[in-house]
Amino acid sequence: MWHSFKRALLALSLFAWLLPAGAQAPRERINLDRDWRFAHGHAHDARQDFGHGLRAFFFAKAGYGDGPAAPGFKDAGWRRLDLPHDWAVELPFDARGDTNHGSKAIGRAFPENSVGWYRKTIEIPASDRGRRIALEFDGAYRDSVVWVNGHYLGREPSGYSGFRHDITDYLDYGGTNTIAVRVDATMEEGWFYEGAGIYRHVWLTKTAPLHVAQWGTFVKTAVADGRAAIEVDLSVRNDARQAARFTVEHRILGPDGGTLAHTRAAGLAAGASATAASRQRLVLAKPRLWSLDDPHLYVLRTTLLQDGRTVDSYETRFGIRTVSFDPDKGFSLNGKRIKLQGTNNHQDHAGVGVALPDGLQDWRLKQLKSFGVNAYRTAHHPPTPELLDAADRLGMLVIDEHRMMGTSPEIVSQLERLVRRDRNHPSVILWSVGNEEWALEGKPLGTHLAREMHAIVKRLDPTRRTSVATSSSGRGTSLGADVIGFNYGAQHDVDAFHRAHPGKPATMSEEGSTLTTRGIYLDDRARVHLNAYDRQGRPGNSLSIEEGWRRVQERDWMSGMFIWTGFDYRGETTPFGWPAISSQFGMTDTTGVLKDTAYYLKAWWRPEAMVHILPHWNWPGREGQPVDVRVYSNGDEVELLQDGRSLGRQPMPRDSHLRWSVPYAPGRLEAVAYRRGVRIADTAVATTGTPATVHLSGDTERLAADGRAIAVVWVNVRDREGRLVPTASDRMDFAVTGPPRIIGVGNGDPGSHEADRPAERHAFIPLSGWRTLALEGADAASAPAAPDVVSALAPDADLARWRDPAQWLPPERQPARTPYLVLRGQFDRPRLAPGQGARLFVDQLDPGQQVHVNGVPVKPEIVDGSPAVLLDPALLRDRNSVAYVLPTPPDGVAGMFDRSAGTSRWGSVRVTTPAAPWRRSLFNGWAQVIVQSTGEPGTGTLTATAPGLPPATLQLDVR
Ligand code: GAL
Repeated sequence: MWHSFKRALLALSLFAWLLPAGAQAPRERINLDRDWRFAHGHAHDARQDFGHGLRAFFFAKAGYGDGPAAPGFKDAGWRRLDLPHDWAVELPFDARGDTNHGSKAIGRAFPENSVGWYRKTIEIPASDRGRRIALEFDGAYRDSVVWVNGHYLGREPSGYSGFRHDITDYLDYGGTNTIAVRVDATMEEGWFYEGAGIYRHVWLTKTAPLHVAQWGTFVKTAVADGRAAIEVDLSVRNDARQAARFTVEHRILGPDGGTLAHTRAAGLAAGASATAASRQRLVLAKPRLWSLDDPHLYVLRTTLLQDGRTVDSYETRFGIRTVSFDPDKGFSLNGKRIKLQGTNNHQDHAGVGVALPDGLQDWRLKQLKSFGVNAYRTAHHPPTPELLDAADRLGMLVIDEHRMMGTSPEIVSQLERLVRRDRNHPSVILWSVGNEEWALEGKPLGTHLAREMHAIVKRLDPTRRTSVATSSSGRGTSLGADVIGFNYGAQHDVDAFHRAHPGKPATMSEEGSTLTTRGIYLDDRARVHLNAYDRQGRPGNSLSIEEGWRRVQERDWMSGMFIWTGFDYRGETTPFGWPAISSQFGMTDTTGVLKDTAYYLKAWWRPEAMVHILPHWNWPGREGQPVDVRVYSNGDEVELLQDGRSLGRQPMPRDSHLRWSVPYAPGRLEAVAYRRGVRIADTAVATTGTPATVHLSGDTERLAADGRAIAVVWVNVRDREGRLVPTASDRMDFAVTGPPRIIGVGNGDPGSHEADRPAERHAFIPLSGWRTLALEGADAASAPAAPDVVSALAPDADLARWRDPAQWLPPERQPARTPYLVLRGQFDRPRLAPGQGARLFVDQLDPGQQVHVNGVPVKPEIVDGSPAVLLDPALLRDRNSVAYVLPTPPDGVAGMFDRSAGTSRWGSVRVTTPAAPWRRSLFNGWAQVIVQSTGEPGTGTLTATAPGLPPATLQLDVR
């Protein structure tokens, strides 16, 4: 026993000896999503923007960031939240909002809702001195400005491009550092819901001075004779003041972490404060190709060594596959022709807006795959990185799209960042440099800009083609890139184009734009509901899903089609405008429930046998009337039976559907699909009874206790016989007990104004008119009770001889230091709507301080981490006083005022509108709840209650 203990001790001390003192991982990538403080500022009123921009020289001098940008600013009472965060989804709907953006109360008409401030403090250990430290944002919507420790770092107008600041020089090593971000969503970039806030991840990356540059590896692969030739372009940044010599090692790792191939290059050099490029080659025998069915990924581990010491270790995930767009044969993956069965998508989802937890990216792609989608166009902007990670992992091909066409430095920088960030993803098959740029798409300028952007992309990625999506062709942008993207077949003579440009590959970059509401079979325009039968959305201008797909199938040369869209999204409320709040173009609604058109696609896009009937069979009051019944199936014949009686067996035309006109009678319709006479699938719709039970079903029962994992939960009601009621609209109340939290609810109704994400909302009333008085006679024991104190605290005290604490006085004119002083400010009576409450947040100027409101002593309690006093409306007056009595600080009154943060820190009044409860009505039988881990382990229980029905629960095991 003693022996083995000694051995262990020896091993331990040896280990310690081998590790250099203070050793740390050469590279750290720390997620900074947790625990931010958030508050709404104001788009043009500096006072309501926490005084930002009011300090002299606030933008003229380094380190003069003011208001919330100042490190000394007090964000007491600001809301605590985790990223990703979209504040637009938390706002109410408003007829004055922009319908294209989903009619949220944001934009020019709502300056008080359009600016968000985010603040966070981070500790940087002293041992980090000498490392390079960068703050990286994957994307914030939009016009964001970043300060660290009061130093302005820069601004990023794009709501979609990742951006980065090297903050090495601004940090307090061994101390606390403040990050402040002002995000302004007043202006729009797109014509669809875009969200607001830091809606993607934020990272802190720490490296040695010599390190792999951001997005500094590019892995190019070529396959021939059963081997993969792998070329790695590496960009190494040397931030040291002297040149560096170094060695590079690349290893390709297999799934078990073992090395499959490796290369080493010594004697490389990078100049001082310079970037060095190198290229290495590796060969991989018998590569396992990345494909849709087997999306196999490899990892390249790149190691930088200086004097035999590892200074950086960097991993790049990549896949090996070949991709080709051929003008005659269309698209091929690994030499195999595949039709691109694509959808276009924006990035918002029911409940959460654009702030998607990573797990929801996976969930959404799986939902698309469930009806055969194999390709995704990131319309019309750079995607969230985790979407591409999910596409790599799950086998989904991606057209990766840039936002706006142009060659200005700002636009080129966005394009370059997109390509450099995304070029290692095997899922990315094509770069789209633009979409329907109406001002130039028919003009020579369009061709020119497309060519210029194509050249920029090619310089960064010679392995992939470029494309532009166009609404007219033959001229302009349609000629500039490699692959033409036709938006809507009916707008182009695609065959004439193909004849005229036989060398140009093509894809239907948009088709469909059909207008259907999930679960609706009779138009109800007052409710902004449109029937879900497939038909042209804009007759003469776009095709139905079936027509679109058939046209693609008829043309070998057409690479495929991208339906507008996979998911319904907020905004673009064609054809209604207000009060509709979301689009209806999707193959699913905003929650991801499949519409009938998705079943049409499933029939022809998925291999497994299936049959689907529409509509549902609940039509009280329509007895005897004919109902248009349609059936989708990939059988070659389908028989329809009503209450067991055959209504005929019809051959199924390829890529089409079948129709029956069936007189309605309550009962059951059954469809049976056959292939070569053999029954392969069946389905039924039946008239249900009224709702009897509530059902919750999650995509998982287990969550990792990591603060990120989610469960997507469907909510339905069923009748006594257990059949889902397809017309149910029961109102549901949701609650969670245990560690997880609800982060969003939705139901896919394009006309619903129910809250997706009710959130607590704060408005802040600044305190003003600060005055201070030295208390002559008071001593420590008697201060609060002394007569001069009592009169100084009286609400209507005469402040004429009090001084302004912010006013500068030369030392000789500073008042004599007394043991005690009073500091007094005032605020107007907060106007409180029913349900709202007001709290005074006070500063802790001294542990022995006393706080008085209107002359009455109050005892603060800790609220959201700061001392605060609940204000009793009965005690409030039109004008209210706040007074601190405290021992005079060592440097007197002068030392109490911090010009950068103003008087913000001494106190503010917060008016809180509490979050509404989690509640949502079913829409045609369905609603969705998204539940997320908070990081704590335990059992969580989600409960759904509906009036008149027994509650339902769902258990989630979080560990
Ligand atoms: C297209 C456009 C899309 C969307 C769609 C709606 O022209 O590219 O972004 O607006 O129309 O039908």
